[in-house]
Amino acid sequence: MRILVTGGAGFIGSALVRRLVLQERAEAVLVVDKLTYAGERRSLRDCEGKPGFAFLQADIADAELMQSTMAEFRPEAVMHLAAESHVDRSIAGAAPFIHTNLVGTFSLLEAARSYWNGLDAAAKGAFRFLHISTDEVFGSLGATGYFTETTPYAPRSPYSASKAGSDHLVAAWHETYGLPTLVTNCSNNYGPYHFPEKLIPLTILNALEGKRLPVYGKGENVRDWLFVEDHVTALLTVLKGGRVGETYNVGGNAERQNIQVVRAICDSLDRLRPDPAGPRRRLIEFVADRPGHDARYAIDASKLRAELGWQPAESFETGLEKTIAWYLENGWWWQPLRERVYGGERLGLLPAGRPA
Ligand SMILES: NC(=O)c1ccc[n+]([C@@H]2O[C@H](COP(=O)([O-])OP(=O)(O)OC[C@H]3O[C@@H](n4cnc5c(N)ncnc54)[C@H](O)[C@@H]3O)[C@@H](O)[C@H]2O)c1
Repeated sequence: MRILVTGGAGFIGSALVRRLVLQERAEAVLVVDKLTYAGERRSLRDCEGKPGFAFLQADIADAELMQSTMAEFRPEAVMHLAAESHVDRSIAGAAPFIHTNLVGTFSLLEAARSYWNGLDAAAKGAFRFLHISTDEVFGSLGATGYFTETTPYAPRSPYSASKAGSDHLVAAWHETYGLPTLVTNCSNNYGPYHFPEKLIPLTILNALEGKRLPVYGKGENVRDWLFVEDHVTALLTVLKGGRVGETYNVGGNAERQNIQVVRAICDSLDRLRPDPAGPRRRLIEFVADRPGHDARYAIDASKLRAELGWQPAESFETGLEKTIAWYLENGWWWQPLRERVYGGERLGLLPAGRPA
């Protein structure tokens, strides 16, 4: 297939592109990525020079460029992952989230629609626009229950609100214009090449360097973790077999409290690379909670399992072990990011005195 991947230099996008280019041997893969602070061309190092791989540094909100890129590349599928993705950054400033997640998705949908309208009947029928989204659009759960595909949207952070808006745009472009769209809503991912601002890579690197391990609030917030390669498999499964116009939830049935995740990382690192100063749990520090911090996410992925036979290959334990081993072996990737892009400082706190 000829596949246009937006956000292909990001965490999940680069895992997808490596799979498409190195394993699936897709006919042609064009990455469209703006290379924001979160975009890292070095994550695609193994794909450079491989047959069919191409990279375009561009903003998906550039409507004219998206139109001409579709016309020239002639994709059979668009997999749309480009986004501003960090909740804490959305609290500190939402403008880039509105620009990329809403205006950018709109521009891309319009470019895809105009290109798709010019295709012959067979190509029109085969074309797919897969929009990659998050379970955070559903809001926050109590102690029990799961998000299903019919759970009403109730986003609570600027990030999740912008993603919810983009999901609605995609649904509207299907209903109104007939564009053959698919949407996936996935739980929290972790794995190699994860930008070290998110909980798991930040904790691994801070723990390695003997720094404090900040845990928001009491560490009781629950996330449902999925290894990034399992997410990639889910995306390809939905692209190949998903019913047009449908949405699919993706999750690994691996709920953990944040404090459990941080302790598991400490214990694993203590085994793999013991710290002469003592067990790394000593570094854990509870800090002011994130404003509006969602209590719990948990995904019911039974539609994807039943309809398309997908299931995750990794448990949380095996996936975490692989992830930690990767960070231990790949300082070439994360060291420059820690030094030059983001050193681990706290983001997204409201000014003192403002109620959360
Ligand atoms: N990380 C998760 O746990 C998770 C879970 C579910 C869904 N998602 C969704 O998956 C997608 C990818 O997430 P990620 O964690 O890989 O994000 P990421 O932040 O690692 O990567 C995002 C990529 O998009 C690019 N980008 C940002 N703005 C752009 C623009 N205007 N034009 C072109 N490129 C732009 C960045 O340069 C970067 O390469 C996002 O849509 C996110 O909402 C993420």
